[in-house]
Formats: sequence, C-alpha cells, structure tokens
Amino acid sequence: MPSFPLTQAVTLRGRRPRDLPVLRRWLADADAEWRRWDAPYFHAAATTASLLAYVERLERTPTRSDERVIDVDGECVGMVNRSQEEPAGGGWWDLGILIYDPAHWGHGIGTRALRLWVTATFDETDAHVLTFTTWGGNERMIHAARRLGFLEAARIREARLVDGARYDSVRLDLLRREWTSAEPTARP
Ligand SMILES: CC(C)(COP(=O)(O)OP(=O)(O)OC[C@H]1O[C@@H](n2cnc3c(N)ncnc32)[C@H](O)[C@@H]1OP(=O)(O)O)[C@@H](O)C(=O)NCCC(=O)NCCS
Repeated sequence: MPSFPLTQAVTLRGRRPRDLPVLRRWLADADAEWRRWDAPYFHAAATTASLLAYVERLERTPTRSDERVIDVDGECVGMVNRSQEEPAGGGWWDLGILIYDPAHWGHGIGTRALRLWVTATFDETDAHVLTFTTWGGNERMIHAARRLGFLEAARIREARLVDGARYDSVRLDLLRREWTSAEPTARP
C-alpha cells in the first residue's frame, strides 16, 4: 500500500477545545474500527468505560506534554502519547499512537507522526530507550515502527486472544544512539 508521497502537512500539537468533539466522537464509539486494532484483547466493556472516563477527563483538564494531537492540515486525526516505565527517571518510555479514521490509515501519516513523536521524546526527556507494545496482528503498527528503526525486542508467543485466534504480544525498541530523524529519500 503506498504511503508516500504524502502531500498534507503532519504536525503534533497540544489539544485545543475545538478538538474535543472529534475526540469524543471517535473515543466514545464502541464500534469504531480502530478498536479492532488497538489492544483488542482487552475486554471491550472495560475499554469503553475507561475511554469514556478518559474523554471526560480531557474535557476538564488542560493539555499535557505527554499527549499530543496528530494534526493533518489543521484537522485532528488522532493522538500520540507516552509514559515512563517505572521507575520514573530510569530512561525507558513507552509510546502510543492512534489515528481514528481508517480512511487515514496506510498513507504514511502514522510513520510521520511517529517520527515527530520519537524526535520530540528524545528532545524533551532523558529517554535512553523507547518502546512500542502491540500484537502480531497489527501489521501496520509493526511496519511503521520498523520503518523508523525500531527492532523487535520481545515476542511472547500466542499471548493475545483476538476474536478466538491466538496472536503474539510484540514489543519493539529503539535506543537513543540509534535514532536518526532524517526522512527516507526513497522507499526500500
Ligand atoms: C497503527 C497506525 C498508527 C499506523 O499508522 P498508518 O498511517 O496507518 O501507518 P503508515 O501508513 O505510516 O505505515 C503503515 C505500514 O504498514 C503497511 N501496511 C499498510 N496497510 C497494511 C495492511 N493492511 N497490512 C499490513 N501492512 C500494511 C504499509 O505499507 C506501511 O509499511 P511500510 O512503510 O513498511 O511500507 C494506524 O494504522 C492506526 O492508528 N491504527 C489503529 C490504531 C492502532 O492500531 N494503534 C496502534 C496500537 S499499538
């Protein structure tokens, strides 16, 4: 699937009040397609409840530096986030990404947003190593991370149950000294 060239401008920014209806619409929709890809092995009802609580929290609290909107030509299309693995200050950050609308998938937006997010995280934190945690069925996530230089660090075989089938739990990692934020000039 072609993901380049992407002509739209992809940026990361803090959340604005006008993003909230978009966030609420996608996060509160229990039937949204993205739910089949982002940790679908968790119990759906619990995920729905925690997402609704999360939306409520977003509406009450200011934007945080560990969470940014993915903006494509001025429009909020998703979010990136990061959290420190315990203990805080140990230099290990786990990153997350979600693009809401399947129409936006597979066009290189995720790879660009991830590149910006990795750069921002290395610039703004003491991170020594970054990880993504996903599952074997989420090939778009795995491809996008590998394209940026993340390597498979752990694969727990058949650890995740999705729609009655078993998939591996997959963790990818990237060290600070391995990071180059340069855009690729050509696809391999
Ligand atoms: C995962 C996600 C962020 C990736 O963003 P994206 O914009 O779709 O990704 P890109 O287009 O930049 O890259 C996708 C890669 O997967 C490949 N790909 C695209 N569609 C694919 C498919 N159906 N099956 C396998 N690979 C596919 C692309 O070729 C590309 O790989 P390449 O650069 O090596 O060619 C986005 O799809 C998403 O938000 N999905 C739903 C939520 C989710 O899964 N979040 C991650 C939870 S861990």
